[in-house]
Amino acid sequence: MVSQLPVRILGIAGSLRTGSYNYALLRAARDLAPPGAEVHLLDRALLAGIPPYNEDVRAQGEPASVTALKEAIRQADALLIATPEYNFSIPGVLKNALDWASRPPETSPFSGKPVAIIGATAGTWGTVRAQMHLRQVCQALNMFPLNRPEVLVAFAAEKFNADGHLTDETARQLIRSLLEELVRWAICLRRRP
Ligand SMILES: Cc1cc2nc3c(=O)[nH]c(=O)nc-3n(C[C@H](O)[C@H](O)[C@H](O)COP(=O)(O)O)c2cc1C
Repeated sequence: MVSQLPVRILGIAGSLRTGSYNYALLRAARDLAPPGAEVHLLDRALLAGIPPYNEDVRAQGEPASVTALKEAIRQADALLIATPEYNFSIPGVLKNALDWASRPPETSPFSGKPVAIIGATAGTWGTVRAQMHLRQVCQALNMFPLNRPEVLVAFAAEKFNADGHLTDETARQLIRSLLEELVRWAICLRRRP
């Protein structure tokens, strides 16, 4: 059930790395959230505790980490996923978490959920290929991804300072705009019959 204002956004980073640029992007998003929106960051310990997907394990009872992830998704009005790019796609850690939370499909917390996608890489292409794959997964999950603006942070080493603070003003402005659009999108979807 979607709450009234503030719009609650759950930030999920697809990286467990301590110095993760993508987690740092989410921290920036939390600081840049517009009035009327709150960005809450999913605890990465929770993500790290999710076992590799196995239908036999699920049949014996859903792991507590998965139940907690699903509940966090349910509580959110919208998701903000920051994905690294691994071999032109999304990391297994992220895909595994999405797969677990999507079962059983009848009660999936993703269905009808607005989502925005961002990503950072030390490389050249700003995670564009991973983001396109993630959009395809969002379609399978019946989520509603925001189309624009695209937030593709390339050459990340130059865009964050030593403390992991996003210093690049263009990226900061894009994240601001994205969050404004995501809030509008969440409110718009909330009003649908
Ligand atoms: C297995 C693996 C594959 C990778 N493949 C790509 C890739 O296809 N494109 C890319 O831009 N960076 C690639 N990278 C580099 C990551 O994008 C980079 O390590 C990034 O900082 C990871 O995100 P994080 O800082 O949030 O942990 C790869 C890294 C790993 C470990």
